Amino acid sequence: MAHLRSLPADNTDRSVRRWVKETLIASGDTMFAEERECAAIADRLMADLDPRSRLILEAVERRYDEGELTTLQGNLNRVCKGEPVQRVVGWTEFRGLRVGCSGDVLIPRPETEEVVQWFLEGMDMMEAPRSRKRVLDIGTGSGCVALAIKAERPHWDVVAVDISEAALAQAQANGDRLNLKVEWKQMDALNLEVMRDLGPFDGVVSNPPYIPQSETLEPHVQDHEPGLALFVPESEPLLFYKAMFAMVPTCLSAAGVMVAECHSEFTKSVADCWKLEGAQVHLLSDLQGAERAVRLVRS
Ligand SMILES: C[S@@+](CC[C@H](N)C(=O)[O-])C[C@H]1O[C@@H](n2cnc3c(N)ncnc32)[C@H](O)[C@@H]1O
Repeated sequence: MAHLRSLPADNTDRSVRRWVKETLIASGDTMFAEERECAAIADRLMADLDPRSRLILEAVERRYDEGELTTLQGNLNRVCKGEPVQRVVGWTEFRGLRVGCSGDVLIPRPETEEVVQWFLEGMDMMEAPRSRKRVLDIGTGSGCVALAIKAERPHWDVVAVDISEAALAQAQANGDRLNLKVEWKQMDALNLEVMRDLGPFDGVVSNPPYIPQSETLEPHVQDHEPGLALFVPESEPLLFYKAMFAMVPTCLSAAGVMVAECHSEFTKSVADCWKLEGAQVHLLSDLQGAERAVRLVRS
């Protein structure tokens, strides 16, 4: 059993990193079957002890003391038992930002980093792309999307909404720590009346809940992610996309851009639902080749 493995005898960065990787592999869990994945988890656990790069840690001959190794061992045990490493350390990287992710928020995903890219590219196609813009992130969770946009377009005004008070507390804490100013609001995105009051935006982006309730998820997702962030009613897989589309006439400027991450099985349905005279709608595929998002550009 992984949690019975003793601490490494040699406390150099290289040896400790190797020990973490070998412990994961030795656990025999299929989740840790790939060496590359184990190396990535080891890197995250080590980065939690010291965020400097591996090259620097080797150059400065970093050694870990007993307290650090005990912390590492405890974290490693949790990972071996199926907890996502991002949850164990309490943070992840999102477009170069360190974003805190408590159990109240979805762990930001790499494919959502691409959604931000597609949003920014759509916005950059607008007239005067360098001018001040007002944008909205719906279902902000940890705030990763809103914060990445603010970091990359500091002159834009970014508003972010979520129905969950606990998620917004995490988002706000992330914003404060990163010194990025976003307007956080607790709102129900399905309540069109209140959403309309937010006024017009040049861009709207969202990674809403999109998993039908009957879908079976991997245990590390099912057991460690908030249901509120994941699921939509079985009968209404397009619930949030319909609500977003209903906002377009009043909340999206005449040349505005709207992008939403989608379940790969529903991208075409979302694109159909977003058909609008004078607007272009595109399906976007992620780096794994799965259709992942829909972008609407008004003109
Ligand atoms: C899939 S998560 C996305 C979180 C974050 N934007 C990301 O990409 O990692 C969806 C988020 O929508 C929020 N949410 C669920 N229902 C909502 C509603 N009716 N109105 C506003 N936000 C909602 C959840 O609390 C959750 O934070």
